[in-house]
Amino acid sequence: MQGKTVVITGATSGIGEVAAVALARQGARILAVGRDSKRAESTLAKLRAANPDAQHAAPLADLSRLAEMKRISAEITRLAPEIDVLVNNAGALFNTRQVTEDGLEKTFALNHMSYFVVTGLLLPHIKRGGRIVSTASDAHRGARLDFDDLQCERRYSGFSVYGKSKLCNILFTRELARRIQGSGVSANCLHPGFVATRFGDQSGGLVSVAVRLVKPVGAISPEEGAKTIVHLAASPEVEGESGGYYYKCKPATPTPEAQNDADAKRLWDISTRLAGLGA
Ligand SMILES: NC(=O)c1ccc[n+]([C@@H]2O[C@H](COP(=O)([O-])OP(=O)(O)OC[C@H]3O[C@@H](n4cnc5c(N)ncnc54)[C@H](OP(=O)(O)O)[C@@H]3O)[C@@H](O)[C@H]2O)c1
Repeated sequence: MQGKTVVITGATSGIGEVAAVALARQGARILAVGRDSKRAESTLAKLRAANPDAQHAAPLADLSRLAEMKRISAEITRLAPEIDVLVNNAGALFNTRQVTEDGLEKTFALNHMSYFVVTGLLLPHIKRGGRIVSTASDAHRGARLDFDDLQCERRYSGFSVYGKSKLCNILFTRELARRIQGSGVSANCLHPGFVATRFGDQSGGLVSVAVRLVKPVGAISPEEGAKTIVHLAASPEVEGESGGYYYKCKPATPTPEAQNDADAKRLWDISTRLAGLGA
């Protein structure tokens, strides 16, 4: 990764931060997208310690807002006109339904639309041989998309809506890989495992209680959880592989719903319209 430029969202905590530091240690320059200036400063200090020679940066954005997704993408391309790896990783689970200023349900906005918009705007800047890695989840198992209620207005359950957003991540990767086939850029996604991060701490209500109770029992460390991100971002083993879903650094099979090409295309078209990104 010597001399390569890596953009990572959700890089100020959990598996995103661990992956960012690991890739910096391998020689990469990291643009660590965060939203909190204190946490971003702390991440930046770790990146500088891991690779003092690179011009790391930690630009801030609230990735649940379309205007911020667009603004940060423009800022990133100013900082790095050529990108080697983009890791879409920022995500959260919300116990109660919230609506963003764009009229989007917040889980869908942050977990899916930020991947979609940031990737779309950075794609022209990703070099041949570059990689797009998206953090999805096995939480997609059991999820089905209801295209008549993508914003979950009829029924809202935090876990179920989160699962749908992670299904969106896999469908997005599938359609993206199809669209960029032959361009020299690859797109893969992954399940990191159940990881003891800050994830769920701010979800609120029963979700935070449940996550707090089960984390000490079953969760792996952020170092372990970040391994598949680092593998997909940097390993020569996956050179040329695209459109896959990975777990523990190996290809895994997502649900039939996550392999539905018609749904993947439909989600892409709707997301394009919602993002106001044109054709
Ligand atoms: N932990 C698990 O068991 C698990 C399992 C499967 C998949 N995942 C996925 O892994 C990814 C990373 O999660 P994690 O476990 O590392 O959790 P985490 O420690 O909570 O990290 C989440 C990251 O996303 C950022 N973020 C949240 N809301 C944001 C917003 N509105 N705008 C910009 N950034 C925002 C957070 O920023 P702050 O630092 O400011 O909070 C943080 O950097 C997520 O996509 C999650 O769905 C996690």
